[in-house]
Amino acid sequence: MIITIVGGGSTFTPGIVKSIALRREELDVTEIRLFDQDKERQDKVAVVVDWILHEELKCGIKLTTTTDAETAYTDASFIFAQMRVGKYAMREQDEKISLRHGCVGQETCGCGGMAYGMRTIFPMMQVIDDADKYARPDHWILNYSNPASIVSEACRKLRPNARIINICDMPIAIIDVVAAAMEISDKKNIVYDYFGLNHFGWFTSIEYKGKDLMPALRKYIKEQEILLPAAYLKDKTALSANSTSNANRHSKGSWYYVWKGIYEIMENFPEMLPNTYLNYYLQQKEFVEHSDVNHTRANEVMESREKNLFDGIDRYLATGEIDENVFYAGSHGDWIADLAIALKNDTKARFLVITENRGAIPNMPYDAMVEVPAYIGKNGPEVITQGPIPLFQQGLMMQQLNSEKLLVEGCIEGSYEKVLQAFTLNKTVPSMNVAKAILDDMIEANKGYWPELK
Ligand code: G6P
Ligand code: MN
Repeated sequence: MIITIVGGGSTFTPGIVKSIALRREELDVTEIRLFDQDKERQDKVAVVVDWILHEELKCGIKLTTTTDAETAYTDASFIFAQMRVGKYAMREQDEKISLRHGCVGQETCGCGGMAYGMRTIFPMMQVIDDADKYARPDHWILNYSNPASIVSEACRKLRPNARIINICDMPIAIIDVVAAAMEISDKKNIVYDYFGLNHFGWFTSIEYKGKDLMPALRKYIKEQEILLPAAYLKDKTALSANSTSNANRHSKGSWYYVWKGIYEIMENFPEMLPNTYLNYYLQQKEFVEHSDVNHTRANEVMESREKNLFDGIDRYLATGEIDENVFYAGSHGDWIADLAIALKNDTKARFLVITENRGAIPNMPYDAMVEVPAYIGKNGPEVITQGPIPLFQQGLMMQQLNSEKLLVEGCIEGSYEKVLQAFTLNKTVPSMNVAKAILDDMIEANKGYWPELK
């Protein structure tokens, strides 16, 4: 059984490979292939991947690295896609251009997310087409390439029959934080309901062993004035952007504000637990105020996760010494590998997926790509219906959904007007003229990445 990782040069690759290798019996995996356009970067990451497979875990999984699609996909059963078109250098542009115009500068939300979407839609279709051509006919693509919301809408529109499941780790990371805050160690016993779009949703219930956790969680958030585990809050160095502590990756550096923001949102709207990303839409002004246009999250990541990994590899090559902490960027590989197990072994385990609504949320359009829980088996997700949602959330979601749909249509048709409508409609943008100024700067910065807009 062959697993191909698209975006092999990612800082997340070592952690994902380790998660796969630890589950090698259940997955029956014999070969892992790394596929990336940037050979030099991928070759470096492969040094540590090789160490994980053959030194740390001493397992017999074969490792192949390639920049060629046919070699990457031939006979693969699973394709884990985590590409980042334009790498962190373009993420920095996405964030900074938006901020320069006084708007939220974020990787996947607002104008930054839309710019990133315009870069990713067509490369993602290439992955689907190449997998279709070379991989096993029953292959699955597990896609967590961002911006997942826009990418999944493009998949629905352009490749409706693709064997792809679009997913995101943020809700899981939030549940990890909830578990740590509530001092629950067996988080597998936490079951939740959730609805939304990707990076735009709400937990409506969280239960632990059948008991409602929401009252205790609300109380905790109110008392702490933040949703972060007390243990993390005591150790401020663990929360610094550059820390390699085991504390959840999503609590480091400027991530701090979104956990604070959960408290702020719940002071007004306490019923549901919001996804951290809703802060960018509900507190857009405040986010711009505490952002630094000269130093954004992209800079934090380049100076910490990315630098630590590549410095660690160089050190290993020069001295043979290993500091494992720099190789593993969080636990999301665990859950992606678990999702692959559910598909392969038909376990019907419960995961959140981004999928066509088809009535799961009756007061959202049938063809909206929504994020909802599903049981995962060999034929893919069986969605769990969430029922009608309140007007406030529905209104916010419709605005965001239509912005994303217009962006995808504009990208496919090469329509400047539609993309401008997408930017204008987005809740992070205060006026049409600001939208236009940002879009024009984005077009300049994305030359060679974006389709031409007329
Ligand atoms: C979460 C989101 C991802 C996003 C990541 C960014 O995991 O679900 O979609 O890419 O955060 O994290 P970073 O550490 O790069 O800011
Ligand atoms: Mn995500």
